[in-house]
Amino acid sequence: MNGLLSTTGLLARVLPAEAETAETYADPPGLPLFPAEEAVIARAVDKRRREFTTVRHCARAALERLGALPGPILPGERGAPAWPEGVVGSMTHCAGFRGCAVAHAGDLRTIGLDAEPAAPLPDGVLDAIALPEERAALRRLGAGVPWDRLLFSAKESVYKAWFPLTRRFLEFHQARIELDPDGGFTATLLVAPPSTVTGPLTGFTGRWIHRDGLVITAIAVPV
Ligand SMILES: CC(C)(COP(=O)(O)OP(=O)(O)OC[C@H]1O[C@@H](n2cnc3c(N)ncnc32)[C@H](O)[C@@H]1OP(=O)(O)O)[C@@H](O)C(=O)NCCC(=O)NCCS
Repeated sequence: MNGLLSTTGLLARVLPAEAETAETYADPPGLPLFPAEEAVIARAVDKRRREFTTVRHCARAALERLGALPGPILPGERGAPAWPEGVVGSMTHCAGFRGCAVAHAGDLRTIGLDAEPAAPLPDGVLDAIALPEERAALRRLGAGVPWDRLLFSAKESVYKAWFPLTRRFLEFHQARIELDPDGGFTATLLVAPPSTVTGPLTGFTGRWIHRDGLVITAIAVPV
């Protein structure tokens, strides 16, 4: 797909129709940033500048389709992006992929999105992030999918969906993931959400896809 931006690609397959998505496999040169975004990234190395800029290019395309006014998308508390009023969303970038999903807050309560290269986790990472029962479940899954990386990605998506609702950190061992080989997953929260959260929050369901050298996980919680 080169530098072209797609609004009907992998993300659209793992998110509901209420979410507007945009993704790209490359960094088109010369993309603009708002001055406030420039200020955030002024001292960053080239790799960080490129992922920051391109994913915001994706976000602007998705926001435009949602009807939101253009503006800077700044990292807020603990790095969570500050979306326009009435919008929820999530962004991800990894080698060879940048993507964003947004929705009206009246349609979706939160979104969590994560893309990873489809390769096994580096040595030691699985032990650090997985519960014993999660590691046991991975051993029962078939070949062909880097399940350990998918588990990691699902946990990242959980955190990105959890944080905007709770404004709290979530440890890797505080959610138990069950991967469904058919493209779904469930996350059970092993901690209670803070009392500031309105409505029940005991876990999440999500979808995943393994394609084009990537694993992508996505959570979208209906209102
Ligand atoms: C924040 C974190 C989830 C980012 O994931 P990552 O795989 O390293 O990076 P990605 O490229 O996929 O995502 C980066 C984007 O996530 C978003 N993000 C960062 N912090 C966030 C937060 N607290 N809440 C929601 N989104 C966040 C940002 O948009 C960021 O891009 P930007 O800096 O260009 O704006 C990860 O670095 C982290 O801190 N994880 C620890 C917590 C965790 O995962 N717990 C597991 C609970 S089961």
